[in-house]
Parts: sequence; structure tokens; C-alpha cells
Amino acid sequence: MSKSFLAYSLICAPLLVLAQLAAPSDIASQNSLTTSTSLPFPTATASSSDAQTFITSGWSLSKGRIQNGGDHLEFVQDPFPDAAAPGTTTAPSGPVLQVTYPSGSFGSTDSGAQFYTLWNTTDGSQFNSMLVSYEVAVDSSFPFVKGGKLPGLRGGPEPDGCSGGNAANGTNCFSSRVMWRTSGQGEVYGYFPNDESSSICSQNQVICNSDGFGTSLDRGSFQFTPAQWGRVTMLVRLNSPVNSVNGQVELYFNNVLAANFSDIEYRSSSVINVGGFYFSTFFGGNDASWAPNDTTHAYFRNIQLWGSSTASNLTAASPARLGAESSPAQWLFGLAVAVAGALIGGVM
Ligand SMILES: *[C@@H]1O[C@H](CO)[C@@H](O)[C@H](O)[C@H]1NC(C)=O
Ligand SMILES: *[C@@H]1O[C@H](CO)[C@@H](O)[C@H](O)[C@H]1NC(C)=O
Ligand SMILES: *[C@@H]1O[C@H](CO)[C@@H](O)[C@H](O)[C@H]1NC(C)=O
Ligand SMILES: *[C@@H]1O[C@H](CO)[C@@H](O)[C@H](O)[C@H]1NC(C)=O
Ligand SMILES: *[C@@H]1O[C@H](CO)[C@@H](O)[C@H](O)[C@H]1NC(C)=O
Repeated sequence: MSKSFLAYSLICAPLLVLAQLAAPSDIASQNSLTTSTSLPFPTATASSSDAQTFITSGWSLSKGRIQNGGDHLEFVQDPFPDAAAPGTTTAPSGPVLQVTYPSGSFGSTDSGAQFYTLWNTTDGSQFNSMLVSYEVAVDSSFPFVKGGKLPGLRGGPEPDGCSGGNAANGTNCFSSRVMWRTSGQGEVYGYFPNDESSSICSQNQVICNSDGFGTSLDRGSFQFTPAQWGRVTMLVRLNSPVNSVNGQVELYFNNVLAANFSDIEYRSSSVINVGGFYFSTFFGGNDASWAPNDTTHAYFRNIQLWGSSTASNLTAASPARLGAESSPAQWLFGLAVAVAGALIGGVM
């Protein structure tokens, strides 16, 4: 047994036990998200035109239509029936939603597909917190290239902003999606106000873009594996009162917490609420260096939402708190990584 493996086993294995598994319904109840819904799937496979009709008539789309890439959507048999997401208790069945990314294409107009599912409360009140959960898989030969978008949540009066370099400014919209990056590294990718004055940009795990593009949160905090279903669960709780810095995003991958930020200023006005599921997936990036050289696919199923009219109730961050915040488990893990790194460095 190598010294590095020994170090890993001794130091990291006990810490893995600390990782709490949280099913989406548990996260919903911990956050008092008592209203829920799920998107209906067809019982038989469907070609692209039938798939578009099914989605347009049943998924409550913004403006009543699929925004981009309807021709890239089909319902197909599960290509990976023996590779269910970890923690799956009941065997999933039925067709799954397939998205095609044509070779040489990048960006939301030509690659993948986009639509916005509005979820309205029955009593007419607005959602200020929402949880979305879905399962995703990619082809066995999926070329991750430099990265691409995966679905999340969005809100605000502007249904087309807060993506593609159209910046969030606190009164128009926000979006919070997932991205894959090189080699399948995962992250949260958010459009919220992120100029130099926003405290989130000073954190180590955050990469802000000054040119109107989104904010990268915790890149590499989880990992996509080709030909294997994974479960993405994202919680957004908007900041409240509207000018405070206590908005939250939590991202779980396969029921394990991967990212947790609680000092996001999504909005400066109550015109921004959480509107619903933002199905947005494409390669890119905004130039050909992001495009795959072969046509490839991703698959989605089991799309569920939970919501509440109650926003974040966390204590608002003050700038002094930033960077000083780690739980004991995070601190121990950091120490373990440092010690293991030193040992591995020593034997290599
Ligand atoms: C904040 O909200 C959560 C979820 O609704 C609740 O469990 C918790 O008790 C609240 N905390 C305070 C301080 O109100
Ligand atoms: C939800 O609300 C939006 C905006 O008010 C509206 O366009 C849409 O038709 C509503 N959808 C449903 C299913 O009621
Ligand atoms: C695609 O092919 C071109 C030309 O052979 C090459 O330069 C580029 O690196 C390839 N891109 C990827 C993502 O493999
Ligand atoms: C925010 O952006 C929208 C356009 O996206 C614009 O109409 C509005 O005036 C902007 N608000 C502020 C405060 O800059
Ligand atoms: C995420 O961070 C917030 C603020 O520190 C904390 O209240 C919350 O419990 C954390 N979530 C989890 C799942 O640990």
C-alpha cells in the first residue's frame, strides 16, 4: 500500500462519514418549502415534433413556447438503465428527455435547447424560495471541451435577460444555473449583480466576470461522470429585505452538499421573485473553442420543484465575515487535504 493511499485512508475516510446525505424532499422540508410540483413526462418515446408539442402544452412555458433548440429535443428510452443516480430508491422507468448538441455548435442559439417553465402558486402569491431537482446523464463519449450550461432556476420581470452576457442589475432578473467545465468539473453559474462592490466577488471560490457574464461559484466542487445518471438539486432563497446581502444558493450533487453561498444580493427590488425552472443547456461560452467536434447528447428526467413565498431568513453578511467562514467539517477537510497533499508531494 502506498504512503499516499495510507494517508488518504487514515485522514479522509473518517471525514467522508461526516458528509450528510440529503434527499431533495428532505432539503425542501428543512427549508419549509411546502408547495411542490413535478413536470409530466410522456409514457411513450416521442420524436422531436411530438416532444415539442408535449412540452409546449404541458410545461407552462414562458411566452408559451420553447425559446431555442426545439428541434434538439426528443423523448427516448433511458440509454443508461443500469446506471441510476446514487441513492435512487425506486427504479426509474419511462422515456427520458434527450437534448442534442450538434458538432461544431456553441451558444444558446445553435447548441442544445432553452425554455423557461413558469410555476405559479395557486393563491397568486409569488415564490421567494425555490428548490429544483433533476437527474442528468451525458453520452459515454461526451466531450466536455471547455464547458456548457445545465438547467437551474430564474426569476424577475425580464424573461430573456440574465444569460448570454445580459447582466443582472437587481431589478431586471436573476438566473442560477449549473455548468460543466473541462473534464466534467461542476459548478454553480449565477447571473446576479456582481460589480466590485458586491461582497461575493471577494471570496476564493468565486470568479466574477466584469463584462456582463455570469459568476462562477465553487468550480470543481463536484464531478459529472459520462454514461452515469447524477442528481442535481439546487436551492435558491432570495435576499430579504431586498437590499440585504443574505440571498442563498445551495447545490447538491447526488444528495451531497457541493456548494453553499449565503451572501448573494439577487435583488434590490421586490419586483424580482423566483419564476420557475430555467431549462438551459448548450456548449459555451461564446466562440468556437467551446464547440464539440462530434454531435453528442445529454438526458434529463425526474424534474421536481418545491417552493415557498418566504425568502431567506439568514443573518445578512457583513464584509468582515467573508473568508473567515468555515464549518468545523470544512476546516478539518481542508487540513486533511493539506496534510495528504504534503505526504503525496513527499513520495512523488
Ligand atoms: C429560518 O427558516 C427556516 C426554514 O423555514 C426555519 O426552519 C428556521 O427556523 C428559520 N429561522 C429563524 C431564525 O427564523
Ligand atoms: C403563470 O403566470 C404567467 C405570468 O403571469 C402566465 O403567463 C402563465 O400563463 C401562467 N401559467 C399557468 C399555468 O397558469
Ligand atoms: C476539434 O478539431 C480541431 C481541428 O482538428 C482541433 O483543433 C480542436 O482542438 C478540436 N476540438 C476538440 C474539442 O476536440
Ligand atoms: C436594469 O436593466 C434593465 C434592462 O435590462 C433596465 O431597463 C433598467 O433600467 C436597469 N436598472 C438599473 C437600476 O440599472
Ligand atoms: C449553508 O450555509 C448557511 C449559512 O451559513 C447555513 O445556515 C446552512 O445551514 C448551510 N446549509 C447546509 C446544508 O449546511
